[in-house]
Amino acid sequence: MAATGSDLNVAKEFLIKGELVAIPTETVYGLAGNALNEKSVLSIFEVKNRPAFDPLIIHTDSVDKVAIYVLDFPEKAKKLAQKFWPGPLTLLLPKKSIVPDLVTSGLDTVAVRIPKHPLLLELLRQLPFPLAAPSANPFGYISPTKAAHVDQQLGGKIPYILDGGECEVGIESTILGFENDEVIVYRLGGLDINEIESVIGPVVLMPHSSSDPKAPGMLKSHYAPRKPLHLDHREALAGGPDNAGYLLFNRYIEGIDKTYQRILSPEGDLKEAAHNLFAYLRELDSMPVGEIRAELVPMQGLGLAINDRLQRASVTA
Ligand code: TXA
Ligand code: MG
Repeated sequence: MAATGSDLNVAKEFLIKGELVAIPTETVYGLAGNALNEKSVLSIFEVKNRPAFDPLIIHTDSVDKVAIYVLDFPEKAKKLAQKFWPGPLTLLLPKKSIVPDLVTSGLDTVAVRIPKHPLLLELLRQLPFPLAAPSANPFGYISPTKAAHVDQQLGGKIPYILDGGECEVGIESTILGFENDEVIVYRLGGLDINEIESVIGPVVLMPHSSSDPKAPGMLKSHYAPRKPLHLDHREALAGGPDNAGYLLFNRYIEGIDKTYQRILSPEGDLKEAAHNLFAYLRELDSMPVGEIRAELVPMQGLGLAINDRLQRASVTA
């Protein structure tokens, strides 16, 4: 069990000492350490059991501070930063040498983001360094959206969880890279692609690779519960084994015990569905069921990111 609370001074002290603290963001909880301290960064990889080829995002609180860590800020990236930061958007920008290679797994770009959470922003303002923070889950598992989720899996390994309540967005940030004049989506996430395109025009979607270290962030098998997750059409879902749990978009399947069904959004609201996605997957995973059966949500807005996570979590994709 880690101590849990909302005391910024406690969080700050641990971080300054080089220790790790779980932090709230608007997307998911992060496992944070001093991004400029190699020992802290190394312990992030250890605690998460994360392969060293998978680089980390650094978090800070202002565009001025981002400039300390990046060599170049392309025009399109600036426009996006202006419009969507603080928010669920991560930009891949050429790194300066002040950023340890350990953070970027040797790549020449660094992932940066200004998160939109008042408690975390205040912490970042007070710290003399940025925070490297992957999602606060063991590598490959579902990301945490509540302090209690972090405690369940990493509580024994970290001294403090800064509790900022439930993550509002519920799904990780959208990651964009810039090549020549092209904007490439490396990870679908909490910022809707339509919103991005309304500011800078068409973007290119990067396809998933299975485990290509040259394309980190693209690992196909990810975000998975412990129980096998099967994706199918609604009609086919109902015909599965008796001891299954169900993750559904906006309505129950008749004739199946509701105890074992979770509805992402009864109103059919994709933002609400994203907010509930990981918490419900965890609930189903902890039930006495042999498998989880899920349906895809409509392919619009945040639906693209939700379906991406479901597909990566599933055994059938
Ligand atoms: O919403 C989020 O982004 C959360 C919160 C805590 O900020 N963080 C998060 O971090 O999801 P993580 O480490 O779980 O996912 C970051 C992804 C990884 O898949 C990593 O491979 C990719 O970003 N990434 C980081 N730096 C990269 C780089 N230079 N080039 C390509 N991909 C990169
Ligand atoms: Mg993650």
